[in-house]
Amino acid sequence: MKTVTVGVLGSGTVGQDVLNLIERRKHIFDDIGVNVEVAGVLVRDVNKKRNIPSGIRVTDTCDFLQECGVVIEAMGGIDRPLEILHPYLRSHRSVITANKALLAERWDVLREYALDGNLYYEASVMAGTPVIGPMSTVLRASTFVRLQAVLNGTCNYILTQMEQGKEYAQALAEAQALGYAEDPPTLDVGGFDTAHKLTVMARFCADGNFPYRAVDVTGIEHLTLADIQDARQNGEKYKLVAELERSASSQGQGGWRATVAPRRLPETHALCTAGASRNAMVYEGEECGSLIFAGGGAGGMVTASAMVGDLLDYLLGFPGHVPLH
Ligand code: NAP
Ligand code: HSE
Repeated sequence: MKTVTVGVLGSGTVGQDVLNLIERRKHIFDDIGVNVEVAGVLVRDVNKKRNIPSGIRVTDTCDFLQECGVVIEAMGGIDRPLEILHPYLRSHRSVITANKALLAERWDVLREYALDGNLYYEASVMAGTPVIGPMSTVLRASTFVRLQAVLNGTCNYILTQMEQGKEYAQALAEAQALGYAEDPPTLDVGGFDTAHKLTVMARFCADGNFPYRAVDVTGIEHLTLADIQDARQNGEKYKLVAELERSASSQGQGGWRATVAPRRLPETHALCTAGASRNAMVYEGEECGSLIFAGGGAGGMVTASAMVGDLLDYLLGFPGHVPLH
């Protein structure tokens, strides 16, 4: 039996469930002849009560990373995780991350490691609903035409609750309590988290260097209960929608138009029928036709399922998610 030592950064909503799922999947690791050993978990506050398997070392220093073969990053933010991960990646080791803000905004540093197959990030878009995997592999054979997607669980929750008459502030507070929201939640309601995710996806189907700044972003903060009720009375729903397609005009990034904005869609639209609390994407390719992906897009265990799936891929020797060259 080979031992692989794993380091985990963050033990919040996602990190705790990653640690629990690693323990619960021990039999799968045994089946492939690997003993997964968690060397340590980086947090800010070592005294906070956590729901993680006993015996795991919780620390506020990074010294345990030296001994790790792979690191799972679930801490969030941009500068601090990059500071920790960059030397690690430079030493040709692999990183599994759910951090779409880091991927979208620091691609200048991370791209070369992704091209080498050392970055695994299925959980960064639509959490446990696999879209990065298909987009980085089989879907490449088909000429990409367009995608339309609902990618933010917090906004989905808020808009659905407002359809029932709940006030925006109350719905946002509930989404935060459920562990869906970013820190700060402006990232969600301002549309920036959706733009981060759209940027990550664009690098598989449009341009391997697609820049975050090329996404035109509008959030949901200005939507009122009256707007949402009016839509309902007309058989429509508001969704925060990410869109990517070829741009007919000379504007847009290298011939691509990328937007995030609230859209009023018929209740029968695939992005609405996917379910009130689910993320969804309609992906169109010339040869593959129109595909629909839908499922949980936020929450601890649904995100952990993708990260532990990435860990399994790493252990089996599959490369990470390689963008367009
Ligand atoms: P969270 O609940 O706020 O947890 C963050 C964890 O990181 C905490 O354990 C925190 O320590 C630790 N941490 C943060 N900054 C740190 C620092 N500077 N030094 C040491 N430890 C630090 O966040 P989360 O919801 O799990 O999200 C984590 C990442 O997953 C983010 O990138 C997020 O975008 C992504 N993600 C989240 C979801 C979701 O549904 N929540 C879904 C997909 C992707 P303390 O516990 O001591 O405070
Ligand atoms: N804050 C994000 C959301 C977490 O609400 O969708 C999942 O990426």
